[in-house]
Amino acid sequence: MLGARRSFSRLAAAVRTPVEVPRMPAFDHVPLPYDGPSAVEIARKRAEYLSPSLFHFYSKPLNIVEGKKQYLYDEHGRRYLDAFAGIATVCCGHTHPDIIDAITAQANRLQHSTVLYLNHAIADFAEALAAKMPGDLKVVFFTNSGTEANELAIMMARLYTGSHDIISLRNSYHGNASGTMGATAQKNWKFNVVQSGVHHAVNPDPYRGAFGSDGEKYARDVKEIIEFGTTGHVAGFISEAIQVRCWWDRGGGAWLPAPGVRRCEEGRRPLHRRRGPGGLRARR
Ligand SMILES: Cc1ncc(COP(=O)(O)O)c(C=O)c1O
Repeated sequence: MLGARRSFSRLAAAVRTPVEVPRMPAFDHVPLPYDGPSAVEIARKRAEYLSPSLFHFYSKPLNIVEGKKQYLYDEHGRRYLDAFAGIATVCCGHTHPDIIDAITAQANRLQHSTVLYLNHAIADFAEALAAKMPGDLKVVFFTNSGTEANELAIMMARLYTGSHDIISLRNSYHGNASGTMGATAQKNWKFNVVQSGVHHAVNPDPYRGAFGSDGEKYARDVKEIIEFGTTGHVAGFISEAIQVRCWWDRGGGAWLPAPGVRRCEEGRRPLHRRRGPGGLRARR
């Protein structure tokens, strides 16, 4: 039955015979003793005080209490390789000394201010980021999450163009607030609330997509949505550069859009690129 089973890997789920798990290499770190609450106690407290919308992926979720470089440790000091890809904000490993030093130095000096006053840190950080960006992407707008970045991008595109319609792709994930939920096209991540002004084009997945790897056909679908589903003017086109969040039953994975599909973006200047795999282009 569609959607009945949530599993990262259907192959792994299908394996019945015991497999030999490879041994992890030696690692020179002894985790601190842990005398905090157990996984069972935390699970009970979560169930009592946190929204049930915060689900976990496993029937017996791990209680992660420490991290070092690429490894995590549970409450019993057991070591795990952290292979949880997708959270771009945690791409520097765990407890990196440079990051700890920078956070500690700043917290010791000034913990919080607002952009209504001056402080060099935000301007320096924006300059450093802009120096890494290609082309004319030279202005930085800081947000707290990917959802906010995409919400902001959609709003800016709408305000700038004076158009409301956004084109997004089926199977995409763009966040969990009202605008980004509208742009998202996976039933797992949608609630039954008003999500207006987004049209979802056929996903140019070269492996499982309706038109295979024929990029021209996917581009034509976008063109037809604009011609038949909008006034002919859209605010923008949003897509992950590489789709990595997939509808569970489709097996997961990460792929580039079918070759040629990018041509539909020609002549449009990039308005916004968010961290990680995502971005939005606005029509001018
Ligand atoms: C492609 C993509 N866009 C947007 C988001 C939303 O980011 P956040 O969870 O930080 O709001 C995610 C989060 O996983 C994502 O993978």
